[in-house]
Amino acid sequence: MSGAVLLTERLGLRPHTPADAPFMLRLNADPEVVRYTGDSAFGALSEAEAVVRALEQQWAEHRLGRLVVVDRVSGERLGWCGLKWHASEAGVDLGFRLLRSVWGLGYATEAGAACLGEADRRGLRVFANAMPANVGSVRVLAKLGFRPTERVDEDGFMRFVRERAG
Ligand SMILES: CC(C)(COP(=O)(O)OP(=O)(O)OC[C@H]1O[C@@H](n2cnc3c(N)ncnc32)[C@H](O)[C@@H]1OP(=O)(O)O)[C@@H](O)C(=O)NCCC(=O)NCCS
Repeated sequence: MSGAVLLTERLGLRPHTPADAPFMLRLNADPEVVRYTGDSAFGALSEAEAVVRALEQQWAEHRLGRLVVVDRVSGERLGWCGLKWHASEAGVDLGFRLLRSVWGLGYATEAGAACLGEADRRGLRVFANAMPANVGSVRVLAKLGFRPTERVDEDGFMRFVRERAG
């Protein structure tokens, strides 16, 4: 699987490239996918391209960021998953977003676990934000060892924290 920086049993995770923008556009075009994310569909391909450029830049600068999740065998794009550095919090958040057609197959848990492994190798403090109504996401976070806190931001995202393994 070319370009993968993380591999799991079924998945490859690789940095974004400009060629991923049309996929990003398609992913966010599904109202169910963006329902609990605070995002909306991109208005134009150029908007998706700008986001992909920002993700590429974050990777180039920090070797850290949201990664494209692909089927390890076919290379087909399934979504994204990864860490995002927050300087103000001296930590990274874990996020994930997949095509609806592949929900419920354990992919977010599998990709998330690989990202947490990387965070642990680098000694990073990891947290996550999810709307309590986003049952699938909350379940994935629980499976990955996160626990909810009392903290909810003004957009309705609850803070989840995880004690570092080991
Ligand atoms: C959240 C998301 C990434 C989960 O991906 P996934 O690959 O389906 O997750 P997994 O298969 O690893 O695990 C999902 C778990 O939630 C459970 N689940 C999903 N929807 C559920 C629902 N409506 N009610 C109860 N449980 C639900 C599944 O049964 C599974 O738990 P289990 O393994 O105990 O059976 C995916 O739904 C998604 O892309 N959603 C849109 C984007 C999003 O909301 N991202 C998170 C923002 S915080």
